[in-house]
Amino acid sequence: NEKTFIMVKPDGVQRNLIGEIVTRFEKKGFQLVGAKLMSVSKELAEEHYGEHKERPFFGELVDFITSSPVFAMVWEGPGVIATARQMMGTTNPSEAAPGTIRGDYGISVGMNIIHGSDSAESAEREMGLWFTDQDLTSYDKTLSKWI
Ligand code: GTP
Ligand code: MG
Repeated sequence: NEKTFIMVKPDGVQRNLIGEIVTRFEKKGFQLVGAKLMSVSKELAEEHYGEHKERPFFGELVDFITSSPVFAMVWEGPGVIATARQMMGTTNPSEAAPGTIRGDYGISVGMNIIHGSDSAESAEREMGLWFTDQDLTSYDKTLSKWI
């Protein structure tokens, strides 16, 4: 069962977009298996974005992610990793297609509302970083045979 890590970033939480984002993934047919609203430590932010450590914007990125709470989630479903990335839109919201989350709600690359794992390896790593096994549920929905 494919799973991915999705996070509403501080700008998305501040702008009351949690419900909208959860709704989009629910309506698509994916299943929520874990979620929490949380403040992010500097250590966790640096670990999560470790691949960007050498980039000039790394400090800014860590400051932003730790500036206000995020809403961390795990979503499950066939092809959820790639499809979630499509639903998010490209990294820079100015260029993201209308109809995507970033395309509909964002303007600046620094505040692009949402994070989603970019590969199966990233999804495993990030789920392990943000959630314990006990945080995640697995359950059958009778609806799943219709999706
Ligand atoms: P994430 O889902 O957040 O990982 O975004 P992404 O995979 O679409 O992009 P990437 O991993 O390449 O970059 C990680 C994050 O760094 C982006 O989501 C942006 O928020 C931020 N970022 C990327 N480029 C810039 C930049 O030039 N300036 C600033 N301030 N932030 C940037
Ligand atoms: Mg990324």
